[in-house]
Amino acid sequence: MSNPVAIHTLSGTSRLAGVMGWPVSHSKSPRLQGYWLAKYGVDGSYMPLPVAPENFAASVRALRDLGFAGVNVTIPFKQAVFAVCDELSDRAKRIGAVNTVTFSADGKILGDNTDGFGFIENLRQSVPDIDFSSGPAVILGAGGASRAVIVALLDENCPQIRLINRTAKRAHDLADEIGDDRITVVNGPIGDADLCDASLLVNTTSLGMVGQPALEIDLAGLAQNTIVTDIVYAPLKTDLLLQAEARGNQVVDGLGMLLHQARPGFHKWFGIDPVVTSALREFVLSPV
Ligand code: ATR
Repeated sequence: MSNPVAIHTLSGTSRLAGVMGWPVSHSKSPRLQGYWLAKYGVDGSYMPLPVAPENFAASVRALRDLGFAGVNVTIPFKQAVFAVCDELSDRAKRIGAVNTVTFSADGKILGDNTDGFGFIENLRQSVPDIDFSSGPAVILGAGGASRAVIVALLDENCPQIRLINRTAKRAHDLADEIGDDRITVVNGPIGDADLCDASLLVNTTSLGMVGQPALEIDLAGLAQNTIVTDIVYAPLKTDLLLQAEARGNQVVDGLGMLLHQARPGFHKWFGIDPVVTSALREFVLSPV
């Protein structure tokens, strides 16, 4: 045979993990984790696990009983998984959601949230000298992603968070839940005074995503040294990032957050802290 097929086999001691969601077919995690498994030659597997909501809790326990190392949890289970976990990391409690579950040797279900870690690590990789304590951060949106971003920025000693959301009440509720006096809710449209001294501007809303309305924001008052980032990664360069780039601001796209948030799970389950590279970015974006 001139072109032998690369055969992926598992041993009797393979480590197993996957992603639970409903549906889960859209998830990039199997491709992402699969890339690292192949790259590092790990004796393990990571699979998509579609689970109907009524079967969710029993399925998590079943995976533990089947000897899985752990699972990622995605929509719509990021909150439901709370009740199934025996222990929660401090950041999972503060973010109010779990995306990474590990089964301990003694059968405990441990919940963690790595979204904030992914957000910070993405910015650090793209802007190595970034200093999160250097000035205010302006955060657009007050949903689940916003909460993870805010908690992570507070942990990095960000001096002030200016939080703005279409539904102002949701922003106030989020600020109250996090309970840190560095968070200020901006009522009404964002103005130059909110932007002129910001170190960081983050879109955590779904605006600008393929199929969603555009994010409309006037960046005229934004400082030149403000770093602008978007958690949306489809398209990779959102209108916000294009607009910011055109006026000379440094921009960071959202794909890296997805890639970096996966690192702690891979590390716990398979024993290696994997590297995020441009080759991985291309692989994850390329059609299956
Ligand atoms: P996620 O968990 O991804 O953060 P989410 O909790 O549904 O998702 O939050 C979505 C965010 O996008 C919210 O801040 C939402 O604003 P509201 O709280 O006012 O709903 C924001 N968002 C979604 N569609 C929007 C739109 N058309 N205009 C303005 N904001 C929008």
